[in-house]
Amino acid sequence: MSRVYSPNNMTKSLPNDESILHSSDTATEIQTTDTTPEVILEVKDLSHSVKSGQHTLTILKQVSLKLYAGETLSVVGQSGSGKSTLLGLLAGLDQASEGHIALLGQPLTQLDEDQRARVRAQGVGFIFQSFQLLPGFTALENVMLPLDIAASSTAKEEATRLLTQVGLAHRIHHYPSQLSGGEQQRVAIARAFASQPRILFADEPTGNLDPKTGSAIIDLMFQLNQQLGTTLVLVTHDQKLANRCQRSLTMLEGQLHGD
Ligand SMILES: Nc1ncnc2c1ncn2[C@@H]1O[C@H](COP(=O)(O)OP(=O)(O)O)[C@@H](O)[C@H]1O
Ligand SMILES: [Mg+2]
Repeated sequence: MSRVYSPNNMTKSLPNDESILHSSDTATEIQTTDTTPEVILEVKDLSHSVKSGQHTLTILKQVSLKLYAGETLSVVGQSGSGKSTLLGLLAGLDQASEGHIALLGQPLTQLDEDQRARVRAQGVGFIFQSFQLLPGFTALENVMLPLDIAASSTAKEEATRLLTQVGLAHRIHHYPSQLSGGEQQRVAIARAFASQPRILFADEPTGNLDPKTGSAIIDLMFQLNQQLGTTLVLVTHDQKLANRCQRSLTMLEGQLHGD
């Protein structure tokens, strides 16, 4: 949605003074007050294939998508339809076979692995279904990791604050193996939010949790999302979770449908 400022509607909101109307300062001011939302993710004709023995398996076909800052999007679809593959490509964890992805203004599909890692470190959070915590690190150390990478001088305090926020103040020195599934997922969420991502990708974040814990995790993501204004892209089987998102798309045999 882009706004058009014609001389007519400019005069309505400005004093009746020709010199103001023609001043370049006024033009600049009008530009900056335009509330057109920022595009945070743009995907064009994305396809992805992998070699499987003698054959080539096409997992994603011509996916296009545009997402604005602060939006919440769910992607639902049957197992094997390509959801995790899509999420991994959008977050720059993997390189797509064909098509274009712009993430946070960066041409992800033209970047090498190191450059994609830099984009991720600057503004991308990822929550995996299987938590993916480092087993040899405590909860605190797992959450401190992205902060340490970003050379934060307050990594410990910040990680402690985040773990407290997700209700784990009493578990910060525990190792993943000493935590329940729900607790591990909360550590993963604290870690994902540690770098204050502009966009968070979550792959079935409640898939391995009982309904009560799952529901608490969902509340937490939306609460943190609202506090930081983070864009959410959630892959889920959970209709309740999908319903809480502003937009919902369905993955069907590698193609994205809906909204
Ligand atoms: N690296 C790979 N090699 C071969 N097949 C793969 C690979 N990654 C995914 N697939 C296949 O692609 C399809 C989509 O997988 P995935 O994206 O994990 O689906 P979903 O997350 O919707 O369950 C599945 O049939 C899966 O087996
Ligand atoms: Mg999956």
